[in-house]
Amino acid sequence: MIIMLNPRHVTASAPGKTILFGEHAVVYGKPAIAAAVDRRAYVSIRKREDLRTHVNVEELGVSGFLNLDKGSIEIEKGENNRKGILKYVLRALRKINAEDGLEVTINIDIPIGAGLGSSAAVTVATIQAAAVFNDIKLTRDEISKLAHQVELEVQGAASPIDTTLSTHGGIIYLSRDAEETITLDIDSEIPIVIGYTSKRGNTGKLVESVRLKMETHPQVMIPLFNSMEALTNGAREALTNGDHEMIGEFMNINHGLLDAIGVNTQELSKMVFEARKTGALGSKLTGAGGGGSIIAYCPGKIQEVVNCINEFENAFKVNISREGVRLE
Ligand code: MEV
Repeated sequence: MIIMLNPRHVTASAPGKTILFGEHAVVYGKPAIAAAVDRRAYVSIRKREDLRTHVNVEELGVSGFLNLDKGSIEIEKGENNRKGILKYVLRALRKINAEDGLEVTINIDIPIGAGLGSSAAVTVATIQAAAVFNDIKLTRDEISKLAHQVELEVQGAASPIDTTLSTHGGIIYLSRDAEETITLDIDSEIPIVIGYTSKRGNTGKLVESVRLKMETHPQVMIPLFNSMEALTNGAREALTNGDHEMIGEFMNINHGLLDAIGVNTQELSKMVFEARKTGALGSKLTGAGGGGSIIAYCPGKIQEVVNCINEFENAFKVNISREGVRLE
Protein backbone atom coordinates (compact mmCIF):
# COMPACT_ATOMS: atom_id res chain seq x y z
CA MET A 1 0.00 0.00 0.00
CA ILE A 2 1.35 3.43 -0.88
CA ILE A 3 0.62 6.08 1.71
CA MET A 4 0.61 9.61 0.35
CA LEU A 5 1.74 11.95 3.07
CA ASN A 6 0.83 15.59 3.23
CA PRO A 7 4.10 17.59 3.41
CA ARG A 8 2.87 19.53 6.46
CA HIS A 9 4.14 18.05 9.65
CA VAL A 10 4.80 19.08 13.25
CA THR A 11 7.38 17.71 15.69
CA ALA A 12 7.36 18.41 19.43
CA SER A 13 9.67 17.07 22.11
CA ALA A 14 9.54 16.86 25.90
CA PRO A 15 12.14 15.84 28.49
CA GLY A 16 12.14 12.92 30.88
CA LYS A 17 12.61 13.49 34.59
CA THR A 18 14.23 12.14 37.67
CA ILE A 19 12.71 12.38 41.13
CA LEU A 20 15.25 13.57 43.70
CA PHE A 21 13.00 13.22 46.76
CA GLY A 22 9.46 12.19 47.63
CA GLU A 23 8.30 9.61 45.04
CA HIS A 24 5.33 7.52 46.19
CA ALA A 25 4.76 9.97 49.08
CA VAL A 26 3.64 12.46 46.43
CA VAL A 27 0.70 10.15 45.62
CA TYR A 28 -0.48 10.76 49.21
CA GLY A 29 -0.35 14.55 48.97
CA LYS A 30 3.22 14.92 50.22
CA PRO A 31 5.76 17.23 48.57
CA ALA A 32 8.42 16.04 46.12
CA ILE A 33 11.45 17.45 44.32
CA ALA A 34 12.21 16.44 40.74
CA ALA A 35 14.30 17.60 37.81
CA ALA A 36 13.79 17.43 34.05
CA VAL A 37 16.74 15.70 32.35
CA ASP A 38 18.21 16.44 28.96
CA ARG A 39 16.93 13.21 27.38
CA ARG A 40 13.77 13.69 25.31
CA ALA A 41 10.86 12.00 23.56
CA TYR A 42 10.12 13.30 20.04
CA VAL A 43 6.66 13.07 18.46
CA SER A 44 6.07 13.92 14.78
CA ILE A 45 2.63 14.15 13.26
CA ARG A 46 1.80 14.19 9.53
CA LYS A 47 -1.45 13.94 7.63
CA ARG A 48 -2.16 10.63 5.88
CA GLU A 49 -4.14 10.38 2.72
CA ASP A 50 -6.37 7.65 4.15
CA LEU A 51 -8.48 8.11 7.25
CA ARG A 52 -6.54 5.77 9.47
CA THR A 53 -4.25 6.84 12.31
CA HIS A 54 -0.97 4.97 12.48
CA VAL A 55 1.63 5.18 15.28
CA ASN A 56 5.18 3.89 15.17
CA VAL A 57 7.31 3.92 18.32
CA GLU A 58 10.72 3.16 16.92
CA GLU A 59 12.77 2.39 20.04
CA LEU A 60 10.09 0.05 21.44
CA GLY A 61 9.54 -1.83 18.18
CA VAL A 62 5.83 -1.08 18.63
CA SER A 63 3.36 0.08 15.99
CA GLY A 64 -0.38 0.05 15.58
CA PHE A 65 -3.49 1.72 14.26
CA LEU A 66 -5.61 3.90 16.52
CA ASN A 67 -9.25 4.67 15.99
CA LEU A 68 -9.56 8.13 17.52
CA ASP A 69 -13.27 8.20 16.98
CA LYS A 70 -14.00 4.92 18.80
CA GLY A 71 -10.99 5.06 21.13
CA SER A 72 -9.67 1.64 20.10
CA ILE A 73 -6.18 0.27 19.34
CA GLU A 74 -5.20 -2.38 16.79
CA ILE A 75 -1.65 -3.58 17.43
CA GLU A 76 0.46 -4.14 14.32
CA LYS A 77 3.66 -5.25 16.03
CA GLY A 78 5.22 -5.16 19.49
CA GLU A 79 5.80 -7.27 22.56
CA ASN A 80 3.00 -7.40 25.10
CA ASN A 81 4.83 -5.47 27.82
CA ARG A 82 5.76 -2.66 25.41
CA LYS A 83 2.42 -1.90 23.77
CA GLY A 84 1.09 0.19 26.67
CA ILE A 85 2.62 3.36 25.21
CA LEU A 86 -0.09 3.37 22.50
CA LYS A 87 -2.73 3.93 25.21
CA TYR A 88 -1.03 7.19 26.19
CA VAL A 89 -0.83 8.32 22.55
CA LEU A 90 -4.48 7.45 21.90
CA ARG A 91 -5.72 9.33 24.96
CA ALA A 92 -3.43 12.29 24.31
CA LEU A 93 -4.75 12.67 20.75
CA ARG A 94 -8.35 12.33 21.92
CA LYS A 95 -7.80 15.03 24.58
CA ILE A 96 -7.47 17.62 21.87
CA ASN A 97 -10.16 16.06 19.63
CA ALA A 98 -7.67 15.16 16.90
CA GLU A 99 -9.33 13.53 13.91
CA ASP A 100 -8.26 10.26 12.27
CA GLY A 101 -5.91 10.30 9.28
CA LEU A 102 -2.59 10.91 11.09
CA GLU A 103 0.84 9.32 10.79
CA VAL A 104 2.54 9.61 14.21
CA THR A 105 6.24 8.80 14.55
CA ILE A 106 7.72 8.60 18.04
CA ASN A 107 11.39 8.48 18.99
CA ILE A 108 12.32 8.09 22.64
CA ASP A 109 15.84 9.07 23.69
CA ILE A 110 15.09 8.29 27.35
CA PRO A 111 15.84 4.89 28.92
CA ILE A 112 12.38 3.30 28.77
CA GLY A 113 10.65 1.77 31.79
CA ALA A 114 13.49 3.07 33.95
CA GLY A 115 11.40 5.45 36.05
CA LEU A 116 12.60 8.41 34.00
CA GLY A 117 9.17 9.50 32.86
CA SER A 118 9.28 8.34 29.23
CA SER A 119 5.50 7.83 29.03
CA ALA A 120 4.82 11.32 30.44
CA ALA A 121 7.32 12.81 27.97
CA VAL A 122 5.58 11.02 25.07
CA THR A 123 2.17 12.16 26.34
CA VAL A 124 3.21 15.81 26.72
CA ALA A 125 4.97 15.92 23.33
CA THR A 126 1.97 14.23 21.64
CA ILE A 127 -0.46 16.79 23.10
CA GLN A 128 1.74 19.69 22.00
CA ALA A 129 2.38 18.29 18.48
CA ALA A 130 -1.30 17.47 17.94
CA ALA A 131 -2.44 20.85 19.25
CA VAL A 132 -0.13 22.76 16.92
CA PHE A 133 -1.04 20.43 14.03
CA ASN A 134 -4.69 21.37 14.61
CA ASP A 135 -3.96 25.09 15.11
CA ILE A 136 -4.95 24.93 18.79
CA LYS A 137 -2.96 27.14 21.15
CA LEU A 138 -2.41 25.66 24.61
CA THR A 139 -0.57 27.23 27.54
CA ARG A 140 2.00 25.11 29.35
CA ASP A 141 -0.38 24.79 32.30
CA GLU A 142 -3.10 23.47 29.98
CA ILE A 143 -0.72 20.94 28.40
CA SER A 144 0.42 19.82 31.83
CA LYS A 145 -3.17 19.37 33.07
CA LEU A 146 -4.30 17.43 29.98
CA ALA A 147 -1.22 15.19 30.16
CA HIS A 148 -1.88 14.47 33.82
CA GLN A 149 -5.47 13.51 32.98
CA VAL A 150 -4.09 11.07 30.37
CA GLU A 151 -1.78 9.49 32.98
CA LEU A 152 -4.66 9.16 35.43
CA GLU A 153 -6.85 7.50 32.79
CA VAL A 154 -4.14 5.04 31.72
CA GLN A 155 -2.50 4.30 35.09
CA GLY A 156 -5.37 4.71 37.52
CA ALA A 157 -3.30 6.66 40.05
CA ALA A 158 -0.62 9.19 39.21
CA SER A 159 0.64 12.38 40.77
CA PRO A 160 1.20 15.31 38.38
CA ILE A 161 4.96 15.18 38.94
CA ASP A 162 6.07 13.52 35.68
CA THR A 163 3.80 15.54 33.42
CA THR A 164 4.68 18.80 35.23
CA LEU A 165 8.41 18.26 34.71
CA SER A 166 8.04 17.17 31.07
CA THR A 167 5.98 20.29 30.37
CA HIS A 168 7.87 22.95 32.32
CA GLY A 169 11.45 21.59 32.63
CA GLY A 170 13.82 22.74 35.40
CA ILE A 171 14.00 21.59 39.02
CA ILE A 172 10.65 21.71 40.71
CA TYR A 173 9.38 21.46 44.26
CA LEU A 174 5.84 20.17 44.10
CA SER A 175 4.10 21.40 47.24
CA ARG A 176 1.81 19.42 49.49
CA ASP A 177 -1.23 18.14 47.55
CA ALA A 178 0.46 19.43 44.37
CA GLU A 179 -1.28 22.76 44.88
CA GLU A 180 1.76 24.67 43.78
CA THR A 181 4.85 23.94 41.74
CA ILE A 182 7.83 26.05 42.69
CA THR A 183 10.83 26.21 40.37
CA LEU A 184 13.93 25.97 42.53
CA ASP A 185 16.72 28.34 41.68
CA ILE A 186 19.57 25.85 41.82
CA ASP A 187 22.75 25.52 39.80
CA SER A 188 21.74 23.27 36.89
CA GLU A 189 25.08 21.46 37.18
CA ILE A 190 24.02 19.49 40.25
CA PRO A 191 26.33 16.46 40.33
CA ILE A 192 23.91 13.59 39.82
CA VAL A 193 24.44 10.23 38.15
CA ILE A 194 21.60 7.96 37.06
CA GLY A 195 22.08 4.21 37.04
CA TYR A 196 19.43 1.99 35.45
CA THR A 197 18.79 -1.71 35.14
CA SER A 198 17.30 -3.43 32.13
CA LYS A 199 14.64 -4.82 34.47
CA ARG A 200 11.59 -2.56 34.24
CA GLY A 201 9.30 -1.47 37.00
CA ASN A 202 5.55 -1.20 36.41
CA THR A 203 4.49 2.13 37.91
CA GLY A 204 0.78 1.28 38.06
CA LYS A 205 1.38 -2.02 39.88
CA LEU A 206 3.90 -0.48 42.31
CA VAL A 207 1.60 2.40 43.21
CA GLU A 208 -1.17 -0.16 43.76
CA SER A 209 1.06 -2.36 45.97
CA VAL A 210 1.85 0.67 48.15
CA ARG A 211 -1.84 1.56 48.31
CA LEU A 212 -2.65 -1.95 49.59
CA LYS A 213 0.01 -1.63 52.32
CA MET A 214 -1.41 1.76 53.23
CA GLU A 215 -4.87 0.22 53.53
CA THR A 216 -3.63 -2.73 55.60
CA HIS A 217 -1.20 -0.95 57.93
CA PRO A 218 -1.97 2.76 57.94
CA GLN A 219 -0.45 3.15 61.42
CA VAL A 220 2.91 1.96 60.03
CA MET A 221 2.76 3.58 56.61
CA ILE A 222 1.59 7.07 57.57
CA PRO A 223 4.66 7.83 59.73
CA LEU A 224 6.90 6.66 56.85
CA PHE A 225 5.24 9.13 54.48
CA ASN A 226 5.46 11.85 57.14
CA SER A 227 9.21 11.18 57.35
CA MET A 228 9.47 11.43 53.56
CA GLU A 229 7.70 14.78 53.74
CA ALA A 230 10.11 16.06 56.40
CA LEU A 231 13.18 14.95 54.48
CA THR A 232 11.92 16.43 51.19
CA ASN A 233 11.45 19.78 52.94
CA GLY A 234 14.90 19.49 54.52
CA ALA A 235 16.41 18.56 51.16
CA ARG A 236 14.84 21.62 49.54
CA GLU A 237 16.75 23.79 51.99
CA ALA A 238 19.94 21.77 51.61
CA LEU A 239 19.74 22.01 47.79
CA THR A 240 19.14 25.75 47.93
CA ASN A 241 22.12 26.21 50.30
CA GLY A 242 24.36 23.77 48.39
CA ASP A 243 24.82 21.66 51.55
CA HIS A 244 26.28 18.55 49.87
CA GLU A 245 26.56 16.37 52.98
CA MET A 246 22.95 17.02 53.96
CA ILE A 247 21.63 16.36 50.44
CA GLY A 248 23.47 13.02 50.44
CA GLU A 249 22.22 12.08 53.89
CA PHE A 250 18.60 12.82 52.96
CA MET A 251 18.96 10.67 49.86
CA ASN A 252 20.22 7.76 51.93
CA ILE A 253 17.34 8.10 54.39
CA ASN A 254 14.85 8.37 51.52
CA HIS A 255 16.22 5.14 50.02
CA GLY A 256 15.72 3.34 53.34
CA LEU A 257 12.12 4.54 53.54
CA LEU A 258 11.42 3.47 49.94
CA ASP A 259 12.82 0.05 50.82
CA ALA A 260 10.47 -0.02 53.81
CA ILE A 261 7.40 0.57 51.63
CA GLY A 262 8.43 -2.34 49.40
CA VAL A 263 9.55 -0.79 46.11
CA ASN A 264 13.27 -1.56 46.31
CA THR A 265 14.97 -4.46 44.51
CA GLN A 266 18.28 -6.25 44.88
CA GLU A 267 19.54 -4.77 41.58
CA LEU A 268 18.68 -1.24 42.67
CA SER A 269 20.31 -1.75 46.06
CA LYS A 270 23.48 -3.04 44.43
CA MET A 271 23.78 0.17 42.40
CA VAL A 272 22.90 2.31 45.44
CA PHE A 273 25.57 0.74 47.66
CA GLU A 274 28.27 0.50 44.97
CA ALA A 275 27.75 4.20 44.22
CA ARG A 276 28.23 5.07 47.90
CA LYS A 277 31.32 2.86 48.07
CA THR A 278 32.76 4.74 45.09
CA GLY A 279 32.32 8.10 46.77
CA ALA A 280 28.72 9.23 46.23
CA LEU A 281 27.57 11.28 49.23
CA GLY A 282 24.13 9.77 48.90
CA SER A 283 22.10 7.50 46.64
CA LYS A 284 18.57 6.22 46.35
CA LEU A 285 16.21 4.51 43.99
CA THR A 286 14.26 7.03 41.93
CA GLY A 287 10.77 6.89 40.48
CA ALA A 288 8.42 4.01 41.04
CA GLY A 289 11.10 1.38 41.83
CA GLY A 290 10.62 -2.37 41.29
CA GLY A 291 13.44 -2.15 38.73
CA GLY A 292 14.26 1.03 36.86
CA SER A 293 16.73 3.57 38.19
CA ILE A 294 18.77 5.00 41.02
CA ILE A 295 20.29 8.43 41.45
CA ALA A 296 23.59 9.11 43.16
CA TYR A 297 24.76 12.49 44.43
CA CYS A 298 28.44 12.63 43.58
CA PRO A 299 30.24 15.98 43.97
CA GLY A 300 33.76 15.47 42.56
CA LYS A 301 33.12 11.78 41.83
CA ILE A 302 30.81 11.79 38.82
CA GLN A 303 33.02 9.88 36.39
CA GLU A 304 34.12 7.36 39.03
CA VAL A 305 30.49 6.53 39.88
CA VAL A 306 29.46 6.34 36.20
CA ASN A 307 32.36 3.95 35.50
CA CYS A 308 31.62 1.84 38.56
CA ILE A 309 27.92 1.33 37.72
CA ASN A 310 28.70 0.79 34.02
CA GLU A 311 30.67 -2.30 35.01
CA PHE A 312 27.47 -4.18 35.91
CA GLU A 313 24.51 -1.97 34.78
CA ASN A 314 24.12 1.30 32.81
CA ALA A 315 24.87 4.82 34.00
CA PHE A 316 25.09 8.38 32.76
CA LYS A 317 25.61 11.84 34.21
CA VAL A 318 22.44 13.87 34.43
CA ASN A 319 22.22 17.28 32.86
CA ILE A 320 19.18 19.19 33.97
CA SER A 321 16.93 20.39 31.14
CA ARG A 322 15.82 23.95 31.83
CA GLU A 323 13.53 23.64 28.84
CA GLY A 324 10.27 21.68 29.00
CA VAL A 325 8.10 20.83 26.00
CA ARG A 326 9.13 22.56 22.77
CA LEU A 327 8.51 22.52 19.05
CA GLU A 328 11.37 21.19 16.95
C1 MEV B 1 6.60 7.71 39.37
O1 MEV B 1 7.53 8.39 38.51
C2 MEV B 1 6.48 8.44 40.65
C3 MEV B 1 5.47 7.85 41.64
O2 MEV B 1 5.48 8.72 42.77
C4 MEV B 1 4.09 7.77 41.08
C5 MEV B 1 3.46 9.14 40.84
O3 MEV B 1 3.92 10.13 41.40
O4 MEV B 1 2.50 9.15 40.08
C6 MEV B 1 5.88 6.47 42.11
